[in-house]
Amino acid sequence: MSRLIRFERTGGPEVLQWVDCDVAPPAPGEAQVRHCAVGLNYIDVYHRSGLYPVPLPSGLGLEASGVVEAVGDGVVDLRPGDRVAYAGGALGAYAERRNIVADRLVRLPDALSFEQGAAMMLQGLTAQYLLRRTYRVQPGDAILIHAAAGGVGLLVCQWAKALGATVIGTVGSDEKAALAQLYGCDHPIVYTRERVSSRVRELTGGEGVAVVYDSIGKDTFLDSLACLRPMGMMVSFGNASGPVESFDPGLLGKMGSLFLTRPSLFAYSARREDLLAMAEELFTVVLSGQVKLPINQQFPLRDAAVAHRELEARRTTGSTVLIP
Ligand SMILES: NC(=O)c1ccc[n+]([C@@H]2O[C@H](COP(=O)([O-])OP(=O)(O)OC[C@H]3O[C@@H](n4cnc5c(N)ncnc54)[C@H](OP(=O)(O)O)[C@@H]3O)[C@@H](O)[C@H]2O)c1
Repeated sequence: MSRLIRFERTGGPEVLQWVDCDVAPPAPGEAQVRHCAVGLNYIDVYHRSGLYPVPLPSGLGLEASGVVEAVGDGVVDLRPGDRVAYAGGALGAYAERRNIVADRLVRLPDALSFEQGAAMMLQGLTAQYLLRRTYRVQPGDAILIHAAAGGVGLLVCQWAKALGATVIGTVGSDEKAALAQLYGCDHPIVYTRERVSSRVRELTGGEGVAVVYDSIGKDTFLDSLACLRPMGMMVSFGNASGPVESFDPGLLGKMGSLFLTRPSLFAYSARREDLLAMAEELFTVVLSGQVKLPINQQFPLRDAAVAHRELEARRTTGSTVLIP
């Protein structure tokens, strides 16, 4: 007998139920993992609320770390006892134990704890592809990251700084501004007080930034475009305030021949060789100390609803893990 979080209808955090279940032996190509820590991510809110529809009833969660307990036929590179972590596969990481396609698992280096593994995979691999592939940050670039004190935000600040960028970040409070600064954000902007695009122009001598990483969506999209230098790259990678409304692509021309992309970690890491290369680069910057993993909240897994309330109310900073 094992336990997991499940939801039968979409809605607020109250739809999350802590229920018993049986876990079948792993099917061919799968591994059974006993979770030691589970990652909390904003995409979990989109799945729970129905913004990203899923067949119901459903498990929740895309990220965890733990120990392999059994492997199905055809799995040759993993053995019971191996320490692993993942971001992706089918929903269902909010569980004490589960089966998952072995293709999604990466070995967790001994120097990293299970909590670190669960905190870093989804947000860290996202920081990796945003900074190294979607727009490859160059030394001297000025960049803008929204929600700079959040899970993805603090990792992007540190990594971009290590790459030699000038990091501008938006945050919702002075406390978050101080935290972002501690993690490499050169110029935090408290967006409740200042118009972001005006401040960005001031900070960049009128030029604008090379890239905006915008995970807020609806509330920030147009002003983010106004922060870019000519031919700059708008990376719209999330919708914490709601989905971006339709707009005329002619606007990109008028604002300086801008580029726009709407990337997803799951496309960037779909091929196993890409996943492994991304994870290796992430582990390298973390193990070298260039990127630290601020795990600022922990909750028992059974209290996932409480964690969701904190995340949606913008009361969390850095990463959050749920402990089975
Ligand atoms: N496309 C991808 O591959 C990918 C992968 C991972 C994450 N993401 C996206 O990246 C974003 C960050 O994810 P995360 O897990 O690290 O979360 P997070 O940044 O730790 O939390 C969300 C933060 O967004 C800010 N925010 C602004 N407007 C908000 C609103 N209306 N409601 C709630 N929060 C709002 C808040 O910070 P302030 O108080 O400073 O405003 C809040 O703390 C999410 O949008 C997520 O979907 C995308």
